Amino acid sequence: MSLTEGVRIKVPASTANLGPGFDTLGMALSLYAWIEMRENDHTAFHLHGEEMKGVPEDKSNLIYKVAQMVFEEAGVTVPELAISMYSEIPLTRGLGSSASAIVGALSAANAMIGSPLPDAKLFDMATGLEKHPDNVGASLFGGFIAAVWDGSHADYIRIAPPANLETLVVIPDFQLSTAKAREALPKAVSLEDAVYNISRSSLLTAALFSGRLDSIHAAMRDRIHQPYRAGLVPGMAEILEEAPNRGALGIALSGAGPTLIAFVERGDNRIEGLRSYLIETMKAKGFSASTLMLRPDSDGVTVLDCDRSISFMDMIRGEVTT
Ligand code: HSE
Repeated sequence: MSLTEGVRIKVPASTANLGPGFDTLGMALSLYAWIEMRENDHTAFHLHGEEMKGVPEDKSNLIYKVAQMVFEEAGVTVPELAISMYSEIPLTRGLGSSASAIVGALSAANAMIGSPLPDAKLFDMATGLEKHPDNVGASLFGGFIAAVWDGSHADYIRIAPPANLETLVVIPDFQLSTAKAREALPKAVSLEDAVYNISRSSLLTAALFSGRLDSIHAAMRDRIHQPYRAGLVPGMAEILEEAPNRGALGIALSGAGPTLIAFVERGDNRIEGLRSYLIETMKAKGFSASTLMLRPDSDGVTVLDCDRSISFMDMIRGEVTT
């Protein structure tokens, strides 16, 4: 593969925290962004789709800047890039759009120059940029991950989620920045609340590892971030209490929100009722919202082996899931 031929990658969205695992647990979801990156005689952007509106088309673009970090780390110079991107991941809604952009850019740039950087290095770089490993780890490795970050290095274990686990996400029609959702958090929590979360985060990890869907309800509860963020998402407190009575195995704020994610068992005949309940509860609070059924993604970011006679957008038209 030559630098001017370039690469195409596909990167999944993600949910973080899963309730108790604040800044630790993440899971990749079947909603995607695609990036094509190649060397060019001048830097150019081809950004497609609703979710790309307003994204900078100059060298301040995140994908461009992250790619340059990879080249610098690898000791390679590729100053001018042609970058194409299409994303179906809603921006600033708690589905890891910025993490998928970072992971996509790292992986595309690394693949373009022959993959000199190992995944562990890409994970450290991604976590350094995002500041927590949950979303980036999920987008990089796929599946469910438990990860820790010491400020310079991230460690993780990946688990394949249970085969019958699916998710129903409700995405309110407003954006909530991670910065704002983190400002709502206290600087310290009590020992009692810390124990509450450690025990549930451990139980959730064990439940997903062993396929014990029956333990998810008790495990997916949190006292260290959701109660403080509930005021930012109308209807959230009520939905977290009520959704398990309507077919959710468990429910949580997805990342920093405002999306809520319900874990459901594939084929459960209560899913349609749960979907109506989520939409109607948001509507009663004055917000419209959309829902998506998403599966856990198992692959994480993937370098596509594709036919370059097919244009980037024609390739994507055959792949989009939403
Ligand atoms: N763990 C992060 C948070 C995810 O909840 O703030 C959002 O990016």
